[in-house]
Amino acid sequence: MIAVRQESPIILPDDPSFGPDVQIDHPGYRSTRLRAPNRPLVTLREEFQSLEGPVFGEDAVEDGDDDLTRGGGGEPLGERIVVHGRVLDEDGRAVRGALVEVWQANAGGRYRHEVDGHPAPLDPNFGGAGRCLTDPDGGYRFVTIKPGAYPWGNHENAWRPAHIHFSVFGRLFTQRLVTQMYFPGDPLFAFDPIFHAVRDPAARELLVARFDLEATQPEWALAYEWNIVLGRGARGTTPVENEW
Ligand SMILES: [Fe+2]
Repeated sequence: MIAVRQESPIILPDDPSFGPDVQIDHPGYRSTRLRAPNRPLVTLREEFQSLEGPVFGEDAVEDGDDDLTRGGGGEPLGERIVVHGRVLDEDGRAVRGALVEVWQANAGGRYRHEVDGHPAPLDPNFGGAGRCLTDPDGGYRFVTIKPGAYPWGNHENAWRPAHIHFSVFGRLFTQRLVTQMYFPGDPLFAFDPIFHAVRDPAARELLVARFDLEATQPEWALAYEWNIVLGRGARGTTPVENEW
């Protein structure tokens, strides 16, 4: 069922023949096998790339959707944290009104999802999903619980570093982003083929949040800052998950 290479269970991508915008079949990351193209790519016309238009209804976001710790009958278990930052375009301008959606495992490393078979406890007070719109300065802020690491079956003894999934709808087609935010200093970074599917070490660092002491709330929550730069592969932009 699971292909295991005993001599080297971690296979990191190193194929330099693809550009930054191309999905790659990473040998160590099994799910990429069917995602990667096996035909020549088609380039969209220029005017389509800059097409502007509404992609979601703003009334779908309600007050409190940015607090993942509410909605249950009590406080969820785990380390309460604030995750905040700004959404910018590749020229450093704020992207206001962007829809930022997050989903994550609970403190024990389990998702509230029917296909998650990890034998860690579900938390009745934690759903694991939230969303908000960026403010005029491009800012977003969530209150949540620090997610736990979890096993994922990619190879023998495979564990994901703690992470939060992010989806961003900006104002342009080129401002669509699905990716993952990580926490600084995670010992699992070195062993995670998904993290290493971003081949440029500097680009990988763009996926790691910064511990933000100033944004912590004393006696209540620690905080992390993570800024998102939309721009589809340009240097310094946040790597997009389905292009790893
Ligand atoms: Fe995940």
